[in-house]
Amino acid sequence: MSAIDEIQKRKTFGIVSHPDAGKTTLTEKLLLFGGAIQEAGAVKSNKIKKHATSDFMEIERQRGISVATSVMAFPYRDHQVNILDTPGHKDFAEDTFRTLTAVDSVIVVIDVAKGVETQTEKLVEVCRMRHTPIIVFINKLDREGKDAVDLLDEVEKKLGLHVTPLSWPIGMGQQFKGVYNIYEKKLVLFRPHSKQEEEEIIEINDVEDPLLDHHVGKRAADELRVELETVTHVYPAFDREKYLSGEVCPVFFGSAVNNFGVKELLDCFIDIAPPPLARETEERIVRPDEETFTGFVFKIHANIDPRHRDRIAFLRICSGKFERNTNYYHVRQERQMKFSNPTSFMASRKEVIDEAWPGDIVGLYDSGNFNIGDALTQGEKLHFKGIPRFSPEMFRRVINKDPMKTKQLNKGLDQLMDEGVAQMFVKELNGDKIIGTVGALQFDVIQYRLEHEYGAKCDYEPLSLHKACWIEADTDAGLQAFITRKKKDIARDKDEKPVFLAESAWVLRMTLENFPDIRFHFTSEF
Ligand code: G4P
Repeated sequence: MSAIDEIQKRKTFGIVSHPDAGKTTLTEKLLLFGGAIQEAGAVKSNKIKKHATSDFMEIERQRGISVATSVMAFPYRDHQVNILDTPGHKDFAEDTFRTLTAVDSVIVVIDVAKGVETQTEKLVEVCRMRHTPIIVFINKLDREGKDAVDLLDEVEKKLGLHVTPLSWPIGMGQQFKGVYNIYEKKLVLFRPHSKQEEEEIIEINDVEDPLLDHHVGKRAADELRVELETVTHVYPAFDREKYLSGEVCPVFFGSAVNNFGVKELLDCFIDIAPPPLARETEERIVRPDEETFTGFVFKIHANIDPRHRDRIAFLRICSGKFERNTNYYHVRQERQMKFSNPTSFMASRKEVIDEAWPGDIVGLYDSGNFNIGDALTQGEKLHFKGIPRFSPEMFRRVINKDPMKTKQLNKGLDQLMDEGVAQMFVKELNGDKIIGTVGALQFDVIQYRLEHEYGAKCDYEPLSLHKACWIEADTDAGLQAFITRKKKDIARDKDEKPVFLAESAWVLRMTLENFPDIRFHFTSEF
């Protein structure tokens, strides 16, 4: 198979949702279609969220499981589908943001009864910033929920997306009869708890066909006709180019747990979802069909085996062919490295691979050489864009509880930050270390892991900070003058970039007004 064919057959995507909308269930059904698993219940990845907010010990236990399901690859209709798992827990939102940099498209799952929830809003915002093509799957139609039109309105308003429904529900909850697949012009009848092969599909090219009344009853059929008439007037016809540029997203309705509407979703996804896309670097655009290999690390998973400080770095291949036992250039460290055991992830099975193609995710065993965002190439100095750090929402100062273990503490903190567990800022004035996170859970995780993996003990002093802003000015002198004026509120991030720590929204506003020459950014990439 030629390189182009290899690239074209890959579809790399992520499923995102608010916890409990049905992401795990949908993933599982997709894997069943792909033959990657044989039975339901095999995907446990994001069950983490089930264990409340403070049960981080449980999360530690689950980490071992979730590494196996971080990437799930399966073949389907001559394609290779790579699903990248995203943590459901809100405290791990930053992990999800980073994973989204490694996908080419996204499926958003929404609970028909709950509608658009906060976590979904945040994640879709990141997708929108990156123009990632999105398909929406409205789930749990076997339950009573919101009216379909109202839901689409909500999706448009809250998520800022334009939608084109490609299927339409007939009834809901107790009265749920199935969906009309607008994309394929077929009626799909709902039989609760049926197996995938039992889905009853009837070709109805024209909804005026009396066959429709025969199958769903006259009342439901008439309702559907009226609704479809409205749908065709209100929403634009499906346009793949607009989907690919992130302007319009197709919507499907179904019930993941009943395996209903999932095959339609998957088939349409295979037809329309983009193959591996080009990636931006600071230097140039990297196209997947370039001959030379490039890739970047978007996730690091530590401590697969607690006795060794092993880590797995997840590499997204962006161009060329990746080969085992071949020397590649680690751009940040400016040295050659080769990998004898690169692994791919086929659902819960891990296996060593000899080669991988753009769109694939490869796991590299790492003893501390990789940071998130690192590039591997065949010699070219490239820096991939789009792996930003976001301003944290909670801040605490690290207190070293065992000065004899200062070295271990510093090493542990550095490594945990490389993994992306949280962000650390070092105060310009006194060298204080401030940890910033999106959720309280990470503080416990850091404390626990420092003690168990590095033998260091820390405590925290809560800080009431509003935001960390990366700062920039037209001239070095201008920036330096601001840093000098605000010295007590300035810290450095891990790349030594200056950051302004704003105590409150008011302070931030005043500073913005008083220093018009300084630009304040809420992400590290601007
Ligand atoms: P998540 O990964 O997005 O957090 O959601 P998950 O798939 O774990 O689903 C959350 C709950 O919703 C599960 O029930 C799941 O069975 C249920 N669910 C998923 N799809 C549907 C659907 O189409 N219809 C209905 N009625 N329920 C659905 P649970 O009781 O929390 O867990 P479990 O014991 O069933 O695993």
